[in-house]
Amino acid sequence: MVSNAFFLGKGGVGKTTVSAAFALSLARKGKKVLIASLDPAHNLGDVLDAKLSDKPRRVEEGLDALEVDLGSWVDRYLKESKEELKSTYSYNLALNLDSFFDIMKYSPGTEEYAVLWAIEHIRCELAAGYDIVVFDTPPTALSLRFLAMPAISTRWVAELTKLRERILARRQTITRINPSSPVASSCTDKDSDAVYGKLGSIKGRLAGLQSLFSQESYVAVVVNQDILSISEARRIADELDRIDIPLRAICVNKRGLSDAPWTLDPRLKSSKSFEFDFLRGGLSSRDDLTALDNSGLVADFMAEASKGTA
Ligand SMILES: Nc1ncnc2c1ncn2[C@@H]1O[C@H](COP(=O)(O)OP(=O)(O)OP(=O)(O)O)[C@@H](O)[C@H]1O
Ligand SMILES: [Mg+2]
Repeated sequence: MVSNAFFLGKGGVGKTTVSAAFALSLARKGKKVLIASLDPAHNLGDVLDAKLSDKPRRVEEGLDALEVDLGSWVDRYLKESKEELKSTYSYNLALNLDSFFDIMKYSPGTEEYAVLWAIEHIRCELAAGYDIVVFDTPPTALSLRFLAMPAISTRWVAELTKLRERILARRQTITRINPSSPVASSCTDKDSDAVYGKLGSIKGRLAGLQSLFSQESYVAVVVNQDILSISEARRIADELDRIDIPLRAICVNKRGLSDAPWTLDPRLKSSKSFEFDFLRGGLSSRDDLTALDNSGLVADFMAEASKGTA
């Protein structure tokens, strides 16, 4: 059942504006909505006219908002990983965990995991209090990497699980042949092996996130009438296709800003599209967001959200 929305797209196309207007419309229709910014350079608070933090704050009746503190999620992810490694490999004093984790903080993948665990936290700890959670996304490169992470990591975890099974089987063989071997005192069966158990729990968490992205989310791409945002939207559409996340809609924002002749790229036409006018007076308050007519998009989302609940 769809109860989340993500708006992706090139920088500056209006992701935050469209997300905020969408969340506001749903809240004003009586839904309980949480909007969460995942962008490290937050400006959701500016768009909503509200001071936000990393905990949900009431913006108005029906609408709460938060800005995820990615830095603290990176620290938390590294701290938890360090504790786990320390307890699992306490016998291995040769591994200098502190210097290893200093490097990991800046390693590829760390930020993506931090975003994932922040989303998982919202899903598991906060979402129950709301009908809908809307995510304001970071730049495309990071968004595509965290969206792909569950699918990719699941494959990694499957390989590591097989490897662990082989290790445990060999330990059993050695113990049978030589019960006085030092291996005999280590864990040999899956049920009591901490590493095997940990791999199982990561697999479950990743499956939950994959289900969130591919089945429980309305993923849309925002474009403008310009070639660069359209090219980026095509790349996003291709990537979403590869990771089995359906692209539900294209939001053509700032319509009328350019008077050049315009039709949507045929390669994006397989998704529904919705248009939003360029508001010449600009958007300086929360109420200005209501001038953005998003009734078509909201109706389509509600139709998707009601599927599976009937
Ligand atoms: N329909 C619109 N009419 C007029 N101005 C708009 C419209 N949509 C967005 N804008 C303006 O365009 C600018 C960029 O919008 P916004 O911050 O929502 O984009 P973004 O895609 O979230 O950017 P970033 O990639 O930096 O997060 C803002 O000044 C916003 O007020
Ligand atoms: Mg933004």
